[in-house]
Amino acid sequence: MLFVYVNPTRQAHKPSAFNNMHFRNSMKQLLATIVLLIISIFQIVNAQNNLFIPPLLSGKNFNLNVQNGTANWVAGQTTPTYGVNGNFLAPTIELWKGDQVALTVHNKINAPTTMHWHGMHVPSMDDGGPHSIIYPNQSWTAAFKVMNPAATCWYHPHGAHTTDLQVSKGLAGMIIVRDSQELALNLPRKYGIDDFPIILQTKAFDVLYQAAISTELDTLVMVNGTPRATLNIPAQMVRFRLLNGSSNRTFYVGLSTGDSMTVIGTDNGLLNHLYKCTRIMISNGERVEMILDASNKQGQSIQLMCYGSEIPKGIKGADSIGTGMASIMDYDLNPLNGADYTLLNLTVTAPTPGAILSIPNNLASDIPFLAVNATVHRDLVFTPIDSMPATMVMGPFHINDTSYNEMHINDTVYLNTTETWSIVNRTMIAHPFHVHDMHFYVHSINQNTTIPIDYQGRKDVVLVMPGDSLTFVTKFEDFADPMVPYMYHCHLLHHEDDGMMGSFVVLDTTMHMGIGDQLMQEGILFPNPCHDYLSLKHSLKNTDQIHCWNILGEEIPLEKINPTTLNTASLKEGIYILQINQLRYKFVKSN
Ligand code: C2O
Ligand code: CU
Ligand code: CU
Repeated sequence: MLFVYVNPTRQAHKPSAFNNMHFRNSMKQLLATIVLLIISIFQIVNAQNNLFIPPLLSGKNFNLNVQNGTANWVAGQTTPTYGVNGNFLAPTIELWKGDQVALTVHNKINAPTTMHWHGMHVPSMDDGGPHSIIYPNQSWTAAFKVMNPAATCWYHPHGAHTTDLQVSKGLAGMIIVRDSQELALNLPRKYGIDDFPIILQTKAFDVLYQAAISTELDTLVMVNGTPRATLNIPAQMVRFRLLNGSSNRTFYVGLSTGDSMTVIGTDNGLLNHLYKCTRIMISNGERVEMILDASNKQGQSIQLMCYGSEIPKGIKGADSIGTGMASIMDYDLNPLNGADYTLLNLTVTAPTPGAILSIPNNLASDIPFLAVNATVHRDLVFTPIDSMPATMVMGPFHINDTSYNEMHINDTVYLNTTETWSIVNRTMIAHPFHVHDMHFYVHSINQNTTIPIDYQGRKDVVLVMPGDSLTFVTKFEDFADPMVPYMYHCHLLHHEDDGMMGSFVVLDTTMHMGIGDQLMQEGILFPNPCHDYLSLKHSLKNTDQIHCWNILGEEIPLEKINPTTLNTASLKEGIYILQINQLRYKFVKSN
């Protein structure tokens, strides 16, 4: 039975013909032709390419030029790209725990951008979220002390509604955090020799060979920006830092030999104890540090594979997603979905001098946050914004019935509070959920506290399956700022861009800034929310210094009507911080 539900608000985003079955069928044929064309073009250039290893930047001061570039991914065609200090992708940044570092981003493209240090525990003003916009020809510096333990993190732009396009065009790089504890372990750590960045991505193109987004036709597989990549590895223990930097696809990684791999680390650091497995699921934004034992394999070739045929339904990359009307037409046409395909061809060569031939079982000594210490619980519920069948699998999706709005703060968290968050997925597809600022530990999945081994350890992204409720424990340590929020969101980039994101501020109750919330209730500022004017409980003296900022951190001039009244008529709707001398108060302007 065909039930076509036409939602007027959806028509603004999708052509209304999308809901017409005849149109859908002819579109399907057209898309099938395009896919076949694209695949045959790719096959013309099926030579192997040496894996690109992004240059390593070390030190304490980093200059990152976000610039235009080009790539030749399709034979005879040039695709415009973005890169950092190069044509595509970005250098690997090496940071040492304890160092005070400065990363300056110069925007040399003609669009605003931002740069977020995914997984890094930094003050919100240095986090590079949507509020830290870098306009063309401007620069922005994030300066912070490295507090993370040794880990594989990454960096990418985070502009409201522009993340998918900018990442797809090439803006993504790896961050390797090192520390003395990791240094003391007998692990491979020679960059590009026995320790490799492995950035897994798939790309889609439009008919003009431009990077395409909001499509399920991501048919070109690349590692570190290299299609059909090949890498020589020495016959010894080799470390792979796997990162899923794709917009849209989960990888289920394994070895063509059927050998097991040793997992030593997850998103936010090394595990306390390693484990072995033959498959590793890596959803968008997740990282896995893996050791491949190539010591008895000299002369052999091994494929690092994605076993798409084994990906459970509901996860992007599986054979099918959704059912009936709630399926995505171009999803089913993508030959990668549900298929087993090569990510990287490996050839085992002679071992290097000083090769690592065995690794320790015990790695980090991380102490997880415990749910018993949690004093706050939050529920974050994912739902489609309407019940139209396509929306059920394609989105847009809501978190707690709202879409991201940069003028709103969705949650307020207090410094040094342990919290449990339950992520409740009431949609038909799996979403990789990510939180900025802090790492977390998965506590239960559907009330079951026996956590699968690959969900254990310090995480900052977790894949939440359709229908599941997943609870994690986190603690907001070190950084409070009432003005600049952190983000939480789905890391499928078009979901994030479509508004599947929320913001939170961390307040410190021992600072004046945090007291603003309490003073607000005591009626220091009223009405609050205000409309055309804001009254003050205490009259202002002529010598009082008044400043007002919006949550983008921009100063907004406020005119005094009389000693107890400020004119707020011209302010836009949103949250503001009013500072009177040394005291700061929060108020809301509504219309
Ligand atoms: Cu990888 Cu909010 O980002
Ligand atoms: Cu992040
Ligand atoms: Cu999502």
